[in-house]
Amino acid sequence: MHPLLSLSVFWLLPLALMLEEDSPLGCDPRKSVPYHRDNAHLFQEEGVFNYSTMLLREDLNVLVLGAREALYALDLNDISKKLASVKWEVTEQQKAECKNKGKDPETECKNYIRILHKMEDNRMYVCGTNAFDPECNYMSYADGKLTLESKGEDGKGKCPFDPFQRYASIMVDNNLYSATSMNFLGSEPILMRSSPVSIRTEFKSSWLNEPSFVSMAQMPEGDKSEEGDDDKVYLFFSETAVECDCYNKLVVSRVARVCKGDLGGQRTLQKKWTSFLKARLDCPVLESQLPYIIQDTYRLCDPQQHWKTCLFYAVFTPQSDTSDLSAVCVYQVSDISRVFAEGKYKTPVPVETSFVKWVMYSGDVPVPRPGACINNEAREAGITQTLDLPDRTLQFIKDRPLMDQAIQPVGEKPVLVRRGATFTRIIVNQVQAADGEKYNVMFIGTEEGSMLKAVNYDGEMFIIEEIQLFQPPEPIKILKFSNVTDQLYAGSENGAAQIPLASCARSLSCMDCVLARDPYCGWDKVVGKCIALSNSQRELIQSVKEGDASLCPDAEHVKPTNQSIWPGGNLKLSCPSPSNLAKTSWERDNRPLTPSARLQPLQDGLLILNASDSDGGRYRCVSVERSKTAEYATTVADYQVRIAGSGRGGQILFPQPRTGGPSVAGLQAVVGLLVVSLLVLLAWNFYKGHLPLPWSCGKKSEQSQESHEEGGVHSSVPSQEPPKPAQVEDKPLMSGRDNGSSNNHSRGEAAFSAAGGENDAPELNLTSLQYIDDESEI
Ligand SMILES: *[C@@H]1O[C@H](CO)[C@@H](O)[C@H](O)[C@H]1NC(C)=O
Ligand SMILES: *[C@@H]1O[C@H](CO)[C@@H](O)[C@H](O)[C@H]1NC(C)=O
Ligand SMILES: *[C@@H]1O[C@H](CO)[C@@H](O)[C@H](O)[C@H]1NC(C)=O
Ligand SMILES: *[C@@H]1O[C@H](CO)[C@@H](O)[C@H](O)[C@H]1NC(C)=O
Repeated sequence: MHPLLSLSVFWLLPLALMLEEDSPLGCDPRKSVPYHRDNAHLFQEEGVFNYSTMLLREDLNVLVLGAREALYALDLNDISKKLASVKWEVTEQQKAECKNKGKDPETECKNYIRILHKMEDNRMYVCGTNAFDPECNYMSYADGKLTLESKGEDGKGKCPFDPFQRYASIMVDNNLYSATSMNFLGSEPILMRSSPVSIRTEFKSSWLNEPSFVSMAQMPEGDKSEEGDDDKVYLFFSETAVECDCYNKLVVSRVARVCKGDLGGQRTLQKKWTSFLKARLDCPVLESQLPYIIQDTYRLCDPQQHWKTCLFYAVFTPQSDTSDLSAVCVYQVSDISRVFAEGKYKTPVPVETSFVKWVMYSGDVPVPRPGACINNEAREAGITQTLDLPDRTLQFIKDRPLMDQAIQPVGEKPVLVRRGATFTRIIVNQVQAADGEKYNVMFIGTEEGSMLKAVNYDGEMFIIEEIQLFQPPEPIKILKFSNVTDQLYAGSENGAAQIPLASCARSLSCMDCVLARDPYCGWDKVVGKCIALSNSQRELIQSVKEGDASLCPDAEHVKPTNQSIWPGGNLKLSCPSPSNLAKTSWERDNRPLTPSARLQPLQDGLLILNASDSDGGRYRCVSVERSKTAEYATTVADYQVRIAGSGRGGQILFPQPRTGGPSVAGLQAVVGLLVVSLLVLLAWNFYKGHLPLPWSCGKKSEQSQESHEEGGVHSSVPSQEPPKPAQVEDKPLMSGRDNGSSNNHSRGEAAFSAAGGENDAPELNLTSLQYIDDESEI
């Protein structure tokens, strides 16, 4: 086969994948930005770990950061500036008690800050695991000092005992809503409101069954509600499905909600939620039969619009470790709220003596509707608070908190599915682009410490970039966004990072700026720079939907660089691809170059091995990037290669990509000179055979990239390797989810039973037996 033919096949294949709309899997980030300390403001302190709790205090201009045994107040505009800190350590006695109970003194028996919320009086409420004895406290920040009040409050039910267990909490109207485990063993999960009268969930597996809590959000559904409805608090979590007729334990994602005004029942459900309803949350990933598991959510509301238009963005990961896909699904609040307000319930029915099946409930539903908030209709019937609810309604909901219908995402499928780095957290920001339209930009944290920035343009998923925030790679544990500073804040076990929503200056050419399709950035023709829309009064060139770069002024010509090489010597001509979506190719003397054993095109350049006299000539590296509308070609590098005569030989220049800015020219010259001498030395040694050829291990490309970094042009050089689907260890984020004992989830038949579907006699197994045990408490 002609080499060009094979090249074009390789090229067309990914293109075809990319262009197929229904295949978001072909989605690679356009740019991969490697770790660099200048990419972000970083904060970390020697000997302190687990920076996974954050509170934005925009009113005080600080980011409050909770870590292990310490809290920090950092400058919101630059978190590398520490303004104050306070320690909250466990006492020796607490540590000893914790150790006596069999916990590890160096990890578990410490105080992990887990809860951090603002109170109405401007103080903060903070809780920590406190050596498996959770405690809460009030904290204030004033006069540049963080102060913890010494009166500790019991943190049971608010904060987990176990620092490895997932939890969720939110402060609404000065009341803490928390979802965590109530006891030392972690076996009593609850959703609780700590108010003068604390309200919580029942201890029943039909309410919460080995849950892993993810997040909480409130919705102002009582606002100008015609039905006189109440505000709601939503909880996202995953749990072992009670409704599954399956042989193995199956984990499903859930959304539950309670009404803010819930005071519990009078006799039945005393001090328990009367409004706890939950439903399965689906995020159907084509490749998988097992449901995906929710890991984080973000509530996106347009303040100018009705709450019904609010969206929940959620990230999902697989429950079996045979897959390395992650997904984002989007849910409309009104869809969720409709299922709770109008949907059917599921009900347990005993089948045979020791097995219960959950099917759709089709009998009469009591009035007022079980699980509903107190509304005008109830008030007219004389029921003004949940304490007035009749037993029939309460008994119904006590036994049947699960809705029959599952909640489907908008469009009934994920907006993004990606292989590789496992998603952990998500933030979404709405931005108005130059075309006047508003776009929702997703920022997704991963297990590998990178953050993806992605937008859905009319159904087409486009990943603008993947930026490495933490080095060495470590999971992003928390993500926050401030609409005051327009900055993102990420926390991991070893540090915190702050980055802007966009770094437009990474694009050095108009074409790169426009093809980036970043709604925050546009090309300013006057100054010749890629800049943020929000910083410019002028009209900028931007084309987010199409990536139409035809409006760009003609790019400056790349000046050819002279290169000399000894006969028999080796040379690498560098050509960093400006984008992962671009394809670079080489021309020699204006004709497509024919690769051979001695002329080897690489990801980021061209190797000339064992040069001979015939290898001299003009080498041009052309990059072609396809956008929706057209293909754009641009010369990335241009070299005039001379074969040095015998004797003194010509000057050997270090190959320079086009990316150097004028401001760094001096530095570059120095580095260049050093590199030149190094190369001459190396070339001499290779020529003399003192050194083996290093090409095979690809070290050379790393070397040259490092020297660019020293020259200060690092940020302009994208990683030249296309993102590899990393071999991800698929371990759960939390320890509460134990699918180790029955981990054979890959069995084909382990799937959902359709509600009411008639199956053969169900198989008896441990799970169902255990389940019956729990239910017999009734
Ligand atoms: C805290 O951070 C350390 C260091 O990275 C990590 O090994 C440990 O698992 C973390 N602990 C928790 C509870 O996340
Ligand atoms: C930021 O968001 C909050 C709500 O989350 C809103 O009340 C506030 O007005 C916003 N501020 C700005 C500057 O947009
Ligand atoms: C490259 O070499 C040619 C002649 O061989 C010379 O005219 C030209 O100025 C050189 N260019 C550079 C950038 O050194
Ligand atoms: C280099 O090329 C010459 C001919 O041009 C050949 O004789 C020699 O064997 C080659 N050396 C290597 C190491 O391939």
